[in-house]
Amino acid sequence: MERTLSLIKPDGVEKNLIGEVIKRFQDHDIKIVAMKMLHLNRKQAEGFYAVHREKPFFNSLTDFMTSGPIVALVLEGDRVIELNRKLMGATDYTKAEEGTIRRDFASSIEQNVVHGSDAPETAAFEIGYFFNSFEIVG
Ligand code: CMP
Repeated sequence: MERTLSLIKPDGVEKNLIGEVIKRFQDHDIKIVAMKMLHLNRKQAEGFYAVHREKPFFNSLTDFMTSGPIVALVLEGDRVIELNRKLMGATDYTKAEEGTIRRDFASSIEQNVVHGSDAPETAAFEIGYFFNSFEIVG
């Protein structure tokens, strides 16, 4: 069993996609073991995306991620890191496969509805960034 962090980004919340995204997870037997809604401040967004600090899109990304509430979830399941990334589709929604969350709902490479951890080490850091052990069930 693996765990991964999923974020429904401000555009996903604004477009009323919380239920749709969760339904896609549950339709694929992904278990939700933690969930919260929060509004990141700039420091929190910068800390989460610290690996992208030098990228040209960093300021715009942190502006976007602080523009409204997000939903953070911990997902659990067999190879859930890879499965979640498959369900999300490519970062650039124009390159994402048909039927993926980003292909169906993203409006730009930045406003791409969801985030998902890309490896076990990243998942461990990202889950710990949003949740303490008492907030994760099971
Ligand atoms: P995410 O999977 O959360 O990881 C980093 C985020 O940065 C990404 O989704 C996008 O929201 C954003 N991003 C990645 N590449 C670009 C880009 N070229 N221009 C703007 N935003 C980007």
